[in-house]
Amino acid sequence: TATGTTAGTTATPGAGAEPELFTWEFAGDPYPAYAWLREHAPVRWTTLPSGVGAWLVTRYGDARETLADARLSKNPVHHTEEGKARSRTGIPGERSADLMTHLLNIDPPDHTRLRRLVSKAFTPRRVAQFAPRVQELTDRLVDGFAGRGEADLIHEFAFPLPIYAICDLLGVPAEDQDDFRDWAGMMIRHGGGPRGGVARSVKRMRAYLGELIHRKRGDLGDDLISGLIRASDDGEHLTENEAAAMAFILLFAGFETTVNLIGNGVHTLLRHPEQRAALQDSLARGQSALLETAVEELLRYDGPVELATWRYATVPVTIGGQAVAAGDPVLVVLAAANRDPERFAAPDTVDLARRDNPHLGYGHGIHYCLGAPLARLEARTALASLLTRLPDLQPAVAEEELRWRGGLIMRGLRSLPVTFTPE
Ligand code: HEM
Repeated sequence: TATGTTAGTTATPGAGAEPELFTWEFAGDPYPAYAWLREHAPVRWTTLPSGVGAWLVTRYGDARETLADARLSKNPVHHTEEGKARSRTGIPGERSADLMTHLLNIDPPDHTRLRRLVSKAFTPRRVAQFAPRVQELTDRLVDGFAGRGEADLIHEFAFPLPIYAICDLLGVPAEDQDDFRDWAGMMIRHGGGPRGGVARSVKRMRAYLGELIHRKRGDLGDDLISGLIRASDDGEHLTENEAAAMAFILLFAGFETTVNLIGNGVHTLLRHPEQRAALQDSLARGQSALLETAVEELLRYDGPVELATWRYATVPVTIGGQAVAAGDPVLVVLAAANRDPERFAAPDTVDLARRDNPHLGYGHGIHYCLGAPLARLEARTALASLLTRLPDLQPAVAEEELRWRGGLIMRGLRSLPVTFTPE
């Protein structure tokens, strides 16, 4: 194919050297490197730490178009040309192929059919009804550390909240939720690294989900898995495997993302005291408008998904003037697009009241985040509760001491130690 390590390099003289990607420094703050790419090499062929090559798309306009381009496939299996799609998905437990035939890895017409079915069960109404439960889970977690004066907000708050929430929503019984927590922890810790434990976790989860679906078939309840089993479309039902893959992607797509939305969000608020004070004031007055725009702005400014998941050109395409060969993997850099000065006024400034904010944090097009209403509910509940109950929350370590996960698709902190006046 036409791609190679030199393609797309159009650096202007005097523009400064091309920044190195995927270093520790980059993991801490990738935004300067993305600004460089956006300006000088907006569609750039790069070699990922795994050794696999992919095009990085960094401008807002190109990103939005690419996300909705039907000529790009999400299916990794069809594109196993030498040296490319082969081992690249970065999805733990790739070999558990049956769990991997989920929404984010398939194209229409299968995608259309499955998405329609799940949308019947995972409705905005179901999410809205779930609000009191999310508040209860949040309160219980904050109760766990509020009297202590210090906490690690990732481990004690941002990590457990989404996993318990999704388990509850799916209908995983309380006594099994800690197993899920362990499997999910394994995936998040080793998502981009050694696969042994991850593959085992995925396998256990697959076996468990199969069993759970089987049990629910005989005793349908009010939960989402029962809803998935019940959902039908012109007489079509989800197969057991499709239901398991759906439950898996709901967990997988809805877990680490939400951990990081809460983690990155609190981190951003702690670093912008004036913005944070305004939000606290509005919460104290019982208003929710600023909270709503704040969650969107936190997603735009430092969202949990740094790069949208993989796409593959099925035919030769041109993205932002750059020729992309059939079979080439393409990664849309949401984090870069969301700070494009061509689309956002003062893109590197946090403005919790920002109104004109069509960010791509939840993606765009047919794969637009199915869980966005749940993510918003969790983030609003989590941030409002923390800021209201622990109003003098402060970071317990210096900015330089914070460690980022350095994954590829996701951006998030390993831990976020804080101090506050005990409740
Ligand atoms: C898809 C972001 C939370 C379920 C996506 C995509 C993004 C995204 C960017 C599109 C990926 C692509 O096109 O390659 C986020 C963010 C979240 C979040 C930033 C939290 C802050 C959730 C939650 C759930 C969820 C809580 C479910 C419980 C899904 C599913 C898809 C998806 C099922 C695939 C949809 C499809 O392919 O049709 N999400 N997500 N997400 N998300 Fe989310």
